Amino acid sequence: MKMLIAYASTEGQTRRIARFLMDRLADQGHSVELLPVTEAADIDLTRFDRVILAASVHLGHYQKDMGEFAARHGAALDQLPVLFVSVSLAAAGHDAEEWADLDRIVSDFAQATDWHPKKVVQVAGAYRPSEYDIFRRFVMRRIVAAKDPQADPDKDHEYTDWQALGAALDDWLSAKG
Ligand SMILES: Cc1cc2nc3c(=O)[nH]c(=O)nc-3n(C[C@H](O)[C@H](O)[C@H](O)COP(=O)(O)O)c2cc1C
Repeated sequence: MKMLIAYASTEGQTRRIARFLMDRLADQGHSVELLPVTEAADIDLTRFDRVILAASVHLGHYQKDMGEFAARHGAALDQLPVLFVSVSLAAAGHDAEEWADLDRIVSDFAQATDWHPKKVVQVAGAYRPSEYDIFRRFVMRRIVAAKDPQADPDKDHEYTDWQALGAALDDWLSAKG
């Protein structure tokens, strides 16, 4: 099958996730085009059999570029099986309130773009103080201290469960859409 993976990534973890998905699809014999969503603005989606969109949560929202892509291509996306990969730190834990927030973030996105993803997978991202500016460091230290009190706030930490992500991809591929 011919697949498109379009992603938005602020600090790089969603790009890593998109590359992981691309490698796994390629290993299964699929042909994959991987693009930052900013470079996919004019793409003709009828060229693809399936699409994966991946974006990460910052202060309760996905990247603006992903919103613009979804708003622009919603009608074409509705004609295809689409997997929406939502990357966040909330998905690294089991806090019911934070998971409810993730549902709300997806539905705000759907309302704002008028494209309603039918299949969403919530994926834990990463904490990378080595790459944050002062503002991000400040926000993230508080989030991580609450979420993972054992974590060293000065050390990068990847929460992504690659095995679970691979299984979610395989499930989606084996389903009709
Ligand atoms: C400034 C900032 C704000 C964030 N806000 C949230 C948030 O509201 N909810 C959440 O679950 N994760 C939040 N995160 C965590 C990111 O979603 C996580 O680090 C993710 O891996 C980032 O993906 P990216 O590297 O592809 O941008 C935030 C991260 C940063 C740096």
